[in-house]
Amino acid sequence: MIVLGIETSCDETASSICKDGIILSSLVGLQSIHKKFGGVVPEIASREHDKILNKIVSQTLVDAKIPIGSINGIAVTQGPGLAGTLLSGISFAKGLSIGLNIPIIGINHLEAHIFANFLADENLDFPFICLLVSGGHTQIWLVKNLGDYKLLGETRDDAAGEAFDKGARILGLEYPGGPEIEKIAFNGDKFSINFPRPLMRKNNLEFSFSGLKTSLLYYMNKEKKLDISDIAASYQLAIIDVLTTKLKWAMDKTNCNTCVIAGGVAANKELRNNIDKLLFNKNVIFPDISLCTDNAAMVAYLGELYLKKNIESPIDFKVFPNMKMV
Ligand code: KG4
Ligand code: ZN
Repeated sequence: MIVLGIETSCDETASSICKDGIILSSLVGLQSIHKKFGGVVPEIASREHDKILNKIVSQTLVDAKIPIGSINGIAVTQGPGLAGTLLSGISFAKGLSIGLNIPIIGINHLEAHIFANFLADENLDFPFICLLVSGGHTQIWLVKNLGDYKLLGETRDDAAGEAFDKGARILGLEYPGGPEIEKIAFNGDKFSINFPRPLMRKNNLEFSFSGLKTSLLYYMNKEKKLDISDIAASYQLAIIDVLTTKLKWAMDKTNCNTCVIAGGVAANKELRNNIDKLLFNKNVIFPDISLCTDNAAMVAYLGELYLKKNIESPIDFKVFPNMKMV
């Protein structure tokens, strides 16, 4: 089966072709226009998607050497995400689905992030724990099977990616903040400032990052002598410490030996090193960076799994900005 995947939940315009579980091509168009606004402007993001979707999808077909008439189905992100940007992708996908007379399926973006790990490791098998850390979500899932998930814990306020983005803004760095903080933290002393690690009572799998961001703001306002690398490194470590510790608790609690890391924050090398160290005796899977951040390969792959089971969406399905996994 050949499936075209389309992803437009935020500011990446992405398209991919998956054939029988193998990704033949995958393209991501980044919208650098948002940098100057310090965050994604939804209206601009939607218009950018509309401008380049046709080109990106056509190029993915060329890269995969697949004529458009050979596609058997379309998978498109339905939510969660920005209503306007999701609508751009879904409208485009529906047009193709009607024009080519092939089935379409609306995909949950978070579920797709989790399934990106099957592209990272072909030996991955159920059940496993997933630490899902993106710009909008911080969750720990027990993934039992396709469509069978148990939420073990999530954030009460900001997501980990948001903590990176908001922290970067306080430090005067560009958006998206995660890669910027990681870069500047590289030469810093991560033990120089002891930022708080919230909700660290044993076995509590919930997260809270909004207080951490506030303590960074207080620190910046109070201290006279500032070394931005030390601050970034210490702030990054506070986020990573919490994520890593709770991931370990989740694995111990469920007796699960395999874990995967998904979402944009999973691109962070310090997070990867910390998890490797703490979970040295477990099977840990990190997808390639290109599979951690938003992409359409994960959408096409998951879409094919559902379409192969004859699960599809009605053509009048709607965008679902607050879509949940369960
Ligand atoms: O999954 P994603 O690409 O988009 C969403 O679905 O949200 O995640 C984006 C988030 C942003 O908050 C960004 O700052 C963060 O992932 N991120 C990182 C890194 N690369 C991206 N955070 C920490 N370190 C990174 N290297
Ligand atoms: Zn994402």
